[in-house]
Amino acid sequence: DWTPDAFIETTVAELKEKIGDEKVILGLSGGVDSSVAAMLLHKAIGEHLHCIFVNNGLLRKNEFESVLDQYKHMGLNVKGVDASARFLNALKGESDPEGKRKIIGRVFIEVFDDEAHKVENAKWLAQGTIYPDRIESVSASGGPSAVIKSHHNVGGLPDYMKLKIVEPLHLLFKDEVRRVGKNLDMDPTILGRHPFPGPGLGIRILGDITAEKVSILQEVDAIFIEGLKKWGLYDKVWQAGAMLLPVNSVGVMGDERTYEKCVALRAVESTDGMTADWVNLPYEFLQKTSNDIINKVKGVNRVVYDISSKPPATIEWE
Ligand code: XMP
Repeated sequence: DWTPDAFIETTVAELKEKIGDEKVILGLSGGVDSSVAAMLLHKAIGEHLHCIFVNNGLLRKNEFESVLDQYKHMGLNVKGVDASARFLNALKGESDPEGKRKIIGRVFIEVFDDEAHKVENAKWLAQGTIYPDRIESVSASGGPSAVIKSHHNVGGLPDYMKLKIVEPLHLLFKDEVRRVGKNLDMDPTILGRHPFPGPGLGIRILGDITAEKVSILQEVDAIFIEGLKKWGLYDKVWQAGAMLLPVNSVGVMGDERTYEKCVALRAVESTDGMTADWVNLPYEFLQKTSNDIINKVKGVNRVVYDISSKPPATIEWE
């Protein structure tokens, strides 16, 4: 029978044997898979594991700083690279969903390649790929491995892809990865984190992306997600987030007429992201959240809740 402890023991031994004293590079995304892969490798080879965590400027509010801190607490040898400006610059004026994904993927690869070059004499590239990633075209786990997969259509391989690949989780399903993480004493806030797409808020801002829109959406998203946690709803939902719509609508504030942005909230139940049902969140929660968003986030005067299931609607709006 499969047990997390036996898996950890044999995997760590195999990694030690396979890698010896060579250096390994791994891209952390903040998600469960890359984090568990990093912990296993860290247990096997310690400081010879060089982790890279890239801020693409499209993460949740404060996520880059807080997740980087968590990684350091876990004892990982991790370098945080804030490339927000580079991503935003490259995205300027692009409003097509696939166009945005391509730009984000390309810039990620450029930034990651630059950083990988700084690790002298690296021999391995580690990835947090899990079993379903091989059979599904869309990786719900997102992040670096999803980006790397889609790169195959783009042309010349970056240098780090010439490294030998090591994927310690390639035979596991998500629930098994979580059990392994738990037995490795991983922080429950990382273990229980909702899936988050690699292109991040970039595909939740409909239309073109600006720094101002990112900061509006970060505020809205933070109120929604913190609210879910406060109300004990976060763990009952598979994935949740907010979309910034390219729509202005009329409102009133005092005697003034406003003409401001509309946001859509989305929360779904699912097991794998392939199908999903919208969650029947309590009206009192929606009421409070909507008031908080409209009162606290400048530039937003209307909140709607998405009641579409997948299929035919997708989880993300882009
Ligand atoms: P959809 O919107 O296709 O999303 O119903 C299913 C799951 O996949 C995530 N998703 C992505 N993850 N890169 C990723 O890494 C992407 O481009 C991407 N698009 C969607 C989505 O968040 C959901 O978990």
